[in-house]
Amino acid sequence: MGQNTASGEPVRWPVRAGFGQSRGMADSGAASALPAHHGVPGMAEPGERPSRARTGTAAPPGPEMDFVAGRLARPTPPRAGMPSARIAVIGAGAVGGYFAARAAAAGAEVWLCVRRAFDRLVIVSTGADGGDVEAEVPAEVVTDPAKLPPYGFDWVLLATKAHQIPAVAPWLTAAVGPGTSVAVLQNGVRHAERVAAFAHPDQVLPAVVYINAEAERPGVVRHRAGGVLQVPDVLLAERLAERVLTAGEVRLTEDFATAAWTKLCVNSAANTVTTLTGRRLEVLRRDDVAQLALAIMKEAVAVARADGAEVPDGLPEFTVRRLRGQPPGAGTSMLYDRLAGRRLEHEALIGAVVRIGAEYGVPTPTCVTVLPLLAAISDG
Ligand SMILES: NC(=O)c1ccc[n+]([C@@H]2O[C@H](COP(=O)([O-])OP(=O)(O)OC[C@H]3O[C@@H](n4cnc5c(N)ncnc54)[C@H](OP(=O)(O)O)[C@@H]3O)[C@@H](O)[C@H]2O)c1
Repeated sequence: MGQNTASGEPVRWPVRAGFGQSRGMADSGAASALPAHHGVPGMAEPGERPSRARTGTAAPPGPEMDFVAGRLARPTPPRAGMPSARIAVIGAGAVGGYFAARAAAAGAEVWLCVRRAFDRLVIVSTGADGGDVEAEVPAEVVTDPAKLPPYGFDWVLLATKAHQIPAVAPWLTAAVGPGTSVAVLQNGVRHAERVAAFAHPDQVLPAVVYINAEAERPGVVRHRAGGVLQVPDVLLAERLAERVLTAGEVRLTEDFATAAWTKLCVNSAANTVTTLTGRRLEVLRRDDVAQLALAIMKEAVAVARADGAEVPDGLPEFTVRRLRGQPPGAGTSMLYDRLAGRRLEHEALIGAVVRIGAEYGVPTPTCVTVLPLLAAISDG
């Protein structure tokens, strides 16, 4: 149960309702500009960051929401009589906090593994009247891995930024046992490699995340749009839908590599040009910046294909057109990290393009040129 801060009326946290899914996700006319058979996401990180002043309407979904596709997981069977799934969320920020809330709403026992203590997790969204709606999430908050319960967790949801995984090693060591499955809710590709020291690849479920959310402060997550995970079509994914989330929140794809690479191609350009310039996506309306974005994406597409991904033809050109059409103020997560003085996730994005390109002998001269600039911003 939560509190509608605008009207004072209590609101019920939606259980198993898939409330995060916008109508724009699957049926946008824009999606038809790309070959439909790919069923893959095509766009960038959250494209919409409304001003703090509430406008009276919920934020529209970011452009990536147009492309969420893939088979829905089977309808979730009734859970009556089933024991609650025990979940540890490592990285209880925007993504981790939101999916922790969804797991709790679906009946899971949720433990939040944090470094900055808070009393309660609250998800803030925009209500129909434009006011903030707060929903409190039933969950245990722990700041010390030694304080985790000794029984094994059924699932770990890992939702730190990619570069923060080494720092959460003690949490992973404490929470992952032989019977634990690990869902990696992060951008980029080759998710399982990131947690290879903690979990066997068979235990790991990589996830491309479609959401527009922001951790405003420890324990407070503003949810703007979306809330879907695109995952490989494997048994583990069905289990995630059955025991942790709901069928509507888990999309299964037979070609996860293509899904992950497609999003990475877009992120590698959009996040890079906005972060380097310190400007919103409107910077792509400059022809010279659009050319730079195209060059980055074309290199990323070449690497993706060398890595076996079937990235759609025309993705770079299509993406630039879409990014240019974003509303004023729309940015990217890496730009927001720069503006907040946080370290950047560049190594998992454009850094991955450079590294994996080198593995296959695919030249990535533009990405190689801009990568040190992002690294310098990140370290500064
Ligand atoms: N946000 C979105 O809309 C969105 C959309 C699509 C994909 N993604 C991807 O999802 C992933 C997660 O992004 P995010 O936006 O959720 O990031 P985020 O809001 O920054 O959350 C990361 C969380 O990890 C925590 N953390 C970092 N180091 C830790 C440590 N040593 N011990 C405990 N907790 C630690 C942070 O805690 P502190 O608060 O203490 O720093 C923070 O709560 C990224 O790969 C991102 O690219 C995000």
